[in-house]
Amino acid sequence: MMPDAFSPQDFAERLIAWQRQHGRHDLPWQVRDPYAVWLSEIMLQQTQVATVRDYYPRFLAAFPTVQDLAAAEEDAVLALWAGLGYYSRARNLHAAAKQVVAQFGGVFPDTREDLESLKGVGRSTAAAIAAFAFGRRETILDGNVKRVLCRVFALDGNPADKRFERQLWDLAENLLPQAAEDMPAYIQGLMDLGATVCKRSKPLCGPCPMAQHCLAKAQDRIGELPRKKTAATVKSVAVYWLVLRNKAGEIWLEKRPAGGIWGGLHCVPCFERLADLYAYAAAFGVAAEAVEEDAPLTHRLTHRLLLITPLRAETGCLTGGGQPGIWAQKNGFGLPKPLAAYLDTKPFSQR
Ligand code: ADE
Repeated sequence: MMPDAFSPQDFAERLIAWQRQHGRHDLPWQVRDPYAVWLSEIMLQQTQVATVRDYYPRFLAAFPTVQDLAAAEEDAVLALWAGLGYYSRARNLHAAAKQVVAQFGGVFPDTREDLESLKGVGRSTAAAIAAFAFGRRETILDGNVKRVLCRVFALDGNPADKRFERQLWDLAENLLPQAAEDMPAYIQGLMDLGATVCKRSKPLCGPCPMAQHCLAKAQDRIGELPRKKTAATVKSVAVYWLVLRNKAGEIWLEKRPAGGIWGGLHCVPCFERLADLYAYAAAFGVAAEAVEEDAPLTHRLTHRLLLITPLRAETGCLTGGGQPGIWAQKNGFGLPKPLAAYLDTKPFSQR
């Protein structure tokens, strides 16, 4: 059966009406405060709604305004982010708060272009903030929205192709509603439709407000659209953790360099070569025979699978020959998730 004729206005009207009746209305970040909206959008970039529901109120309570965040110590920001992953988001967030204070007089910018000048804020995130907080006619285009558009309009371009991506942005802009007051419901509707109805697998076409117009449905191509990306190749990387404990039960931690994995978080010393680990341990008076090896842990990153072997030892030497680091109780810092989990296992809980 051919779908009904469909104009850009129809798309927006249907989506807004559906969002108002069936969309999500109880998300804690559905507010007009641009600071709160920005914070939620950064958290939601790579983290699920259920997890953000947990972290977001704690973060906002600790830093209620952009001034509070700008004035905070980086370690305090990272500690509240610990467990959310992708820590460059937290460092960019902190830097962007300082930008708002220094470059915009502490007042959040209200255009998509100015929002995009903030660290960590790309076009889609800037559009979400501009639409939710200021009613700007700007469109988002994340993976969920691309899926909705590829299905409703039966577009079978390759998502990795820049030209196709530009076509999707153009289409998404053409579909925007006219009235500023409809923008929050419209953008939330795009998010809600992709997340709850037009899901990647087993989409629920029954309750979908676009079902009568959806070209992929009419052509029985829901399963093949959008076209799949080619899978990322995942390389295994072996690393070794040196878990040193002193007589007070404290753990030796280093602050990780800003650029790489867990950048800025505190972690036990991490080595790619065992010889380097033993040399480091020797500076704490720990002989190779005194080091105990635990079962490896795995940690999946986007393009890498880390195989982490923890090597554990006690030491009476507190200085390690002056290597940079700090003795801390295991819950004294925000730690990478697999380290926090490891430190909750047997050798560390029976003291
Ligand atoms: N994903 C990204 N932004 C979101 C939002 N505001 N609500 C729900 N999910 C989201």
